[in-house]
Amino acid sequence: MHFYRDTKIGVLGGGQLGRMLIQAAVDYNLHIGVMDPNPEAPCRWLAHDFVVGSLTDYDAVMAFGKDKDVLTIEIENVNADALAALQAEGKRVYPDPATIKMIQDKRSQKQFFESYKIPTAPFVLVESKADVYRHMGRLPMVQKLAKAGYDGRGVQVLRDAEQVEEAFDAPGLLEEFVPFEKEIAVIVARNLSGEVATFPVVEMVFHPVHNLVEYLFAPANISPVLATEADHIARQIVDDLKFVGLLAIEMFVTPDGKILVNEMAPRPHNSGHHTIRANATSQYEQHLRAILDLPLGATYGLSPAAMVNLLGEAGHTGPAIYEGIEQLLATPGVYPHIYGKAETKPHRKMGHVTILDADVNRLEHTVQQVKELVKVVSG
Ligand SMILES: Nc1ncnc2c1ncn2[C@@H]1O[C@H](COP(=O)(O)OP(=O)(O)OP(=O)(O)O)[C@@H](O)[C@H]1O
Ligand SMILES: [Mg+2]
Repeated sequence: MHFYRDTKIGVLGGGQLGRMLIQAAVDYNLHIGVMDPNPEAPCRWLAHDFVVGSLTDYDAVMAFGKDKDVLTIEIENVNADALAALQAEGKRVYPDPATIKMIQDKRSQKQFFESYKIPTAPFVLVESKADVYRHMGRLPMVQKLAKAGYDGRGVQVLRDAEQVEEAFDAPGLLEEFVPFEKEIAVIVARNLSGEVATFPVVEMVFHPVHNLVEYLFAPANISPVLATEADHIARQIVDDLKFVGLLAIEMFVTPDGKILVNEMAPRPHNSGHHTIRANATSQYEQHLRAILDLPLGATYGLSPAAMVNLLGEAGHTGPAIYEGIEQLLATPGVYPHIYGKAETKPHRKMGHVTILDADVNRLEHTVQQVKELVKVVSG
């Protein structure tokens, strides 16, 4: 590998994750091509070449892959059959299309956890709403659609018989409701040579209504024993899958101090944005190292950190204005990342703010300040 743009990397998806991947690729002088259905996607003006196309369309993905050497993803909702065909033609495709396909379906994901004895909440598969009624004895439970669940859509808690009236009428699964103490995540990378590196565990705090990560803390405030267990589980999963690339694994910490795996994403993840500023290697650089079979970077934290998602304000749709950023910059250790989406929409991820502070209590205080100060509105 000569780092002279001799390797053409194709990224399916041109959103903020792709954008931050390009940011890391610049330091390696890599050639990045991007495809996204949105002609105004955040990668539009940053990729070396940008193609408008449907990520789920077989022919569009095939055409995009034709002149690329390495293909990867920044969103898992892509045509995995086309990626498999490109792989059969000799393209390097990471993660493996079969693994992407397995992860696309929450049912096969759960079956994978079950068959490899990865701790996860008990579940049953259902085909329809009528099926849900057959499992009333499992209340309270969480219904998850097999496919197309993104940012909380396709997941709902069914607490009682009344809520079952609102159950989805589609194939999916019913999972035991976990009264979790915390939600944590581990990002793990594995390269083709089998080298594995994990990032320190992070703790996610979700928006109470919209099911999006509102902010996170790194490292998570959990015992070293739990952190080690989470780390081991992440390593076990990538070894079981012979995974190549970056895998983000969301987990629950139960009230009795156990870890259950919730779900995984085979790409850079919202729970790793802070690594750009707060870790020796960012998740984006690590993903590139993994898929190019380079030695993985050191992952240790340089400082305790928090990451606040900047979500579009409710009631605002249109060209985005970021209020409060100038004031925000007056606070030391606070770094905004603006995604370059033309339009804001209610609760759309429009950017994030990373906060570095050795004083963990002040970190929490600054998170609240950021939430009060910065508003993404239309104007
Ligand atoms: N079994 C469960 N018990 C309790 N809460 C759960 C359970 N499963 C999921 N949740 C809650 O719902 C949220 C969304 O679920 P999950 O991560 O499976 O879905 P998703 O829509 O794919 O999420 P994402 O926003 O990461 O794409 C979880 O982060 C958690 O807060
Ligand atoms: Mg999730």
